[in-house]
Amino acid sequence: MTEHFYPHRHLLGIQGLGPLELTALLDLADGYVEQNRSVDKRKNLLRGRTLVNLFFENSTRTRTSFELAGKRLGADVINMQASSSSVQKGETLIDTAMTLNAMHLDVLVVRHPDSGAVKLLSEKVNCAVINAGDGSHEHPTQALLDALTIRRRKGQLAGLTVAICGDVQHSRVARSNIYLLLTMGARVRLIGPRTLIPTQVDRMGVEVFHDMRTGLKDVDVVMMLRIQNERMRGNFIPSIREYFHFFGLDYAKLSLAKPDAVIMHPGPMNRGVEIDSDVADDVERSLIREQVEMGVAVRMA
Ligand code: CP
Repeated sequence: MTEHFYPHRHLLGIQGLGPLELTALLDLADGYVEQNRSVDKRKNLLRGRTLVNLFFENSTRTRTSFELAGKRLGADVINMQASSSSVQKGETLIDTAMTLNAMHLDVLVVRHPDSGAVKLLSEKVNCAVINAGDGSHEHPTQALLDALTIRRRKGQLAGLTVAICGDVQHSRVARSNIYLLLTMGARVRLIGPRTLIPTQVDRMGVEVFHDMRTGLKDVDVVMMLRIQNERMRGNFIPSIREYFHFFGLDYAKLSLAKPDAVIMHPGPMNRGVEIDSDVADDVERSLIREQVEMGVAVRMA
């Protein structure tokens, strides 16, 4: 059923995928949640298959959950960190991928600091390629796990208003979420300082706010983003203190959202910068831990 609705070899981005394809992936992932909560978490669906995690940037959640996903489906999983590979001796991205390709992989999961690098690589290898985040372009499995988390709490995505707040400019998570949420019929608001919201982003069909108090009014979901210092060239905010004052999520700002609005963050979080610790740890309203749980199910799908 899912193969019929997802007729692609790779998953490079959310852009271009339709509601049927996205729903098929979310439904399949939803089915793995119970397996992951059971004592025996292993199935042999991918027995004999090989999955390689090739990460050119640091990761905790994405790399670990792809490893768990592969192992829980019975695949052989190998983790490669670029910092301890022959990339350090000058081997190029393509030569690295071709070397791995010669070992008859089935799935190559790639994270790379350059936008477009994962697509380029997918054109050179025979196996399926999954984008685990490329520069500030896309992070498709993050958007899928966010969507699954929201859908399980709210019942559906269509008709919800989701505020994505903070450093949208440098965020691949924001871009993938915008594509997915709009495709599934949600409304998207972007909230942040002018320096951290891309110009002309409203052409994507989102609403833009530069004030949390107006932007958060009556939203169903508040999705906070980390300041991506590693992608910044120059100063984008005057100071952390000022940024938290105007754009950090605390209970005063959250009170403007709907009373049952939920809080999300893709992680890693910088507490006291984009989010107050008490809000992040609110067991009733914060879905941050559930997002991590859904990450394994989505990556199995
Ligand atoms: N959200 C996310 O991609 O986290 P990691 O960088 O830890 O993988």
